[in-house]
Amino acid sequence: LKKSLVPRTRKEIFETLIKGLQRLEYRGYDSAGVAIDGNNNEDKERFIKLVKKRGKVKALEEELYKQDDLDSKADFETHFGIAHTRWATHGVPSAINSHPQRSDKRNEFVVIHNGIITNYKDLRKFLESKGYEFESETDTETIPKLIKYMYDNRESEDTSFSALVERVIQQLEGAFALVFKSIHYPGEAVATRRGSPLLIGVRSKYKLSTEQIPVLYRTCNIENVKNICNSRMKRLDSSTCLHAVGDKAVEFFFASDASAIIEHTNRVIFLEDDDIAAVTDGKLSIHRLERSASDDPSRAIQTLQMELQQIMKGNFSAFMQKEIFEQPESVVNTMRGRVNFESSTVLLGGLKDHLKEIRRCRRLIIIGCGTSYHAAVATRQVLEELTELPVMVELASDFLDRNTPVFRDDVCFFISQSGETADTLMALRYCKERRALTVGITNTVGSSISRETDCGVHINAGPEIGVASTKAYTSQFVSLVMFGLMMSEDRISLQKRRQEIISGLKSLPEMIKEVLSLDEKIHDLALELYKQRSLLVMGRGYNYATCLEGALKIKEITYMHSEGILAGELKHGPLALIDKQMPVIMVIMKDPCFTKCQNALQQVTARQGRPIILCSKEDTESSKFAYKTIELPHTVDCLQGVLSVIPLQLLSFHLAVLRGYDVDFPRNLAKSVTVE
Ligand code: F6R
Repeated sequence: LKKSLVPRTRKEIFETLIKGLQRLEYRGYDSAGVAIDGNNNEDKERFIKLVKKRGKVKALEEELYKQDDLDSKADFETHFGIAHTRWATHGVPSAINSHPQRSDKRNEFVVIHNGIITNYKDLRKFLESKGYEFESETDTETIPKLIKYMYDNRESEDTSFSALVERVIQQLEGAFALVFKSIHYPGEAVATRRGSPLLIGVRSKYKLSTEQIPVLYRTCNIENVKNICNSRMKRLDSSTCLHAVGDKAVEFFFASDASAIIEHTNRVIFLEDDDIAAVTDGKLSIHRLERSASDDPSRAIQTLQMELQQIMKGNFSAFMQKEIFEQPESVVNTMRGRVNFESSTVLLGGLKDHLKEIRRCRRLIIIGCGTSYHAAVATRQVLEELTELPVMVELASDFLDRNTPVFRDDVCFFISQSGETADTLMALRYCKERRALTVGITNTVGSSISRETDCGVHINAGPEIGVASTKAYTSQFVSLVMFGLMMSEDRISLQKRRQEIISGLKSLPEMIKEVLSLDEKIHDLALELYKQRSLLVMGRGYNYATCLEGALKIKEITYMHSEGILAGELKHGPLALIDKQMPVIMVIMKDPCFTKCQNALQQVTARQGRPIILCSKEDTESSKFAYKTIELPHTVDCLQGVLSVIPLQLLSFHLAVLRGYDVDFPRNLAKSVTVE
């Protein structure tokens, strides 16, 4: 949205929106849509042009060029356009179900939404009883219809757009980030969030008059939806809530993550739950009904460190591949300024004030989903050893399903690349209610998890765009190990071990490079395997997590069946799967489980299995029984998993390419799972 000295053409507006969507596409890509003003001619009736299409953003772009005369001379001095790329939750991927969703055939109000409205059935029933006709199967469609209802029933002609939005969100349950556009409020934007991320980018040629946007509050009792028909809407005095940024030529960008806007600006405001941000006449204001949880009376304009080049593919064919190859640098960035290799000390600035409390705790509970959960599994043993505390690792959804007992002297870690995963966020709120100390380990500055936890560690892996998580895993792994090292600093009995691990950390980047140099060999292996239906990955001890994570990578991007099997469980069932056809990868490292892994190897070969073995370079025993080996550099046992996961990341990548799949856009998945 721009109050500009240089008017924008329709083409520029479309291009900005489409580019933004392409940068966000990794978050959802089954359909997309866009809404901009139909024309800028005062004489004609205003209208909103809505174009939606099933498929990727590319398909939407082609449709736009087909439908719209983009070169028409209509220039806009102030204009607000919205666009959305969808990951279906309610309703199949289709043009009609994609966003923006609209209030009516005239597109009086259009809305884009991330999240889920859980009470949408009640709202729909109510609105249908008032004569509103629904066209989609989405939960979102209730929102534009509800705001139109509020508009049609407004008490006064000068009710502001943001006042209507305020009334709408009081009726919504669930999670949302919403942006509204309306023909009744041309050139105005209103956005709000609860539970789903939303930020505002600010770009100006001039120095802004403020770096802090004060948040204004007002009290307004709006009746519940059941009483809406009789409600006497209070008139909201918009002048009381306006504090403006944007008295000079300013552009505002609303987005669910910074990658969509970073090429325009790195100056952003992170909205909090229930903030309502409005841009009217080129000026931004933020207000809310009640004080925020953080109790911060203003929202700062922050400067992001992200670079555009970090979110571009460069010479790689996919983001996932680029991110796999970034790992020598991303782990260095995770350790930078934190591990002092000379003095063998580790300092995590975000945790230092809470260290005493953590040392005194009853137990550590580490909670995450998917790959982030695997990072917890991978480091559990070393954390138990270095912290001398009981460590529980939990899948967020299961942790909540069980109503797991949590106590105020527990310390709960929330591991999340995006910092927005709904299950993990719910688990965080659950633990906060029980007054446990909460620690976030995230890769996204300003994310909900990083803001809502008491303290935390930013893993600094850089933006991860590939849907299949790779570099975030190794950086989460290293972060948790660093935490263990920091906790054990004054334990005399652990000094030798700490020293060994710190030396291991130092040589990790070089060793990762060595593993990456096996890429061609792994590609050849993929050529042998890519037509298989199944792939088992087996190991134990420190490398059990490697198996789980490797199998997850394989299933999510190659759609092959894959299972990570704990080698100790082999004889309790999985051994029945083994025959000479079934491909099996075994992770056997020179660590305390080596002998037990040899037993598993014997059990597999005795059933005519033909194992592909990931082993240490120095291991001469395993290779005797292997169908093939991938030899890895040897590091300290508890860090070996950082190295052993990389061949499996590479293998899944090559398998997916050979099977003809789009690695960065696996079917049915999205990068940030902001719904429960
Ligand atoms: C797998 C993958 C997912 C995520 C999971 C949690 O490659 O990416 O399993 O790890 O959805 O996401 P975050 O870490 O963002 O909480």
